[in-house]
Amino acid sequence: MLKICCIGAGYVGGPTMAIVAYKCPDIQVAVVDISSSRIAAWNSSSLPVFEPGLDDIVMSCRGRNLFFSTDVEKHVADADIIFVSVNTPTKRQGLGAGKAADLTYWESAARLIADVSTSDKIVVEKSTVPVKTAEAIERILTHNSNGVRFQILSNPEFLAEGTAINDLLHPDRVLIGGRSTPEGQAAVNTLVSVYAHWVPADRIISMGLWSAEISKLAANAFLAQRISSINAMSALCEATSADVTQVAYAVGKDSRVGHRFLNASVGYGGSCFQKDILNLVYICECNGLTEVANYWKQVVQLNDYQKSRFVKRIVSSMFNTVAQKKMAILGFAFKKDTGDTRETPAIDVCQGLLRDNAHLSIYDPQVTEEQIRHDLDMDNPDETHGRSKQINIVSDVYEATEGAHGVCIMTEWDEFKTLDYERIFKHMQHPSFIFDGRNVIDADRLRKIGFIVYSIGKPLDPWLRDLPAVPPS
Ligand code: NAI
Repeated sequence: MLKICCIGAGYVGGPTMAIVAYKCPDIQVAVVDISSSRIAAWNSSSLPVFEPGLDDIVMSCRGRNLFFSTDVEKHVADADIIFVSVNTPTKRQGLGAGKAADLTYWESAARLIADVSTSDKIVVEKSTVPVKTAEAIERILTHNSNGVRFQILSNPEFLAEGTAINDLLHPDRVLIGGRSTPEGQAAVNTLVSVYAHWVPADRIISMGLWSAEISKLAANAFLAQRISSINAMSALCEATSADVTQVAYAVGKDSRVGHRFLNASVGYGGSCFQKDILNLVYICECNGLTEVANYWKQVVQLNDYQKSRFVKRIVSSMFNTVAQKKMAILGFAFKKDTGDTRETPAIDVCQGLLRDNAHLSIYDPQVTEEQIRHDLDMDNPDETHGRSKQINIVSDVYEATEGAHGVCIMTEWDEFKTLDYERIFKHMQHPSFIFDGRNVIDADRLRKIGFIVYSIGKPLDPWLRDLPAVPPS
């Protein structure tokens, strides 16, 4: 029986391996992690990752051919194929800080593989890594002098949180990069045979290692660029009374452009886009490609602009101050159907409002109070006696909006479309403002109720039209 071990039981490792086990009953899959709390959660009825459909898949194969364990060494030693799906965050200090990928976790996983292996292995890069990482990993692995041979493959993951199960079951493509040597191609074929259990052959693409590594960074850069492009248009639409939804529809109708990923919003979030583009920028700079680096940097800068523009719009609309005003924050996750808050625009918007001394009442159906307080730096002792008093985290949307001066929609949760807005209006301060950072509500209907509504990239409410878009700082 083929044995697979995945190092890293996070948002990628857990769901990806659950699908491999589900679709390949003839393969034994062990997911290992240094975090004992994460492994305990994977072994419990309350999984550490919220993804529609994930629970059923895990429950159907856990204990059969899917195992979660902290015994990293044993499962690595036993495996034929080792996926490495550890986190690769942006480096915080040292050379390349703020841009380069921090490969500390990757390197320690590679060293462990080298130390405990006694049989030949295929090592698969599942994490998103800089181009040429495989070469560095090869050097680390070959310090193992037991005569063990390793083949490195690049198999980047393209799942999107919130739709991970569907993305894994029906991927647009599976990329497998490997060496062109006979051993490299044999390793590629072994991995192809795993995916072939459920992915049609024409969707499994083999290529060179460096192309596969760079393809993942390129794909995320292109996706984020689309969002920044439509967000740039949203600012122009507001300034000219055009409607960004109509513009996106017209542009997307061109089959060369396509309609997906053209929704204007307060900005993209998630653990990947910003980190991967900054990594791409760094790689370009290291290769002397300043113009290329600057081109991609602008995608991130536009995203930052969109978030600060949103905060400025709120403040300028509410008589240039939100001090002591209650603001209801609806949604904190970076997108719907996930509890993930990494790089969520809600953090920047909340911090912007807190700096202006607003009081926040935050509601999200999936994010815990502990997580929100952590993200807003409220577990920092310096903040505990200050801003933490300005924040209230509630489990009921009507409690969040009761007595509020304004409502900010930060995540496109479906439930926000069907709230009882008459009830909300009745219990808010008047005039009552709604700032829709995701364009999910029916603005015309809410205006009829009496709200003053701001929707990203839409013609401004008459109330807002005459106000300066950017208050003096
Ligand atoms: P995560 O932070 O949720 O999970 C990583 C896990 O690796 C953690 O549980 C951590 O404890 C564990 N870990 C770190 N070092 C370890 C070691 N030496 N031994 C054992 N366990 C170790 O990260 P996530 O979101 O799953 O991302 C993993 C990689 O996949 C990253 O490179 C990311 O860029 C990439 N990716 C993420 C996607 C997403 O939507 N989250 C989508 C596609 C790729």
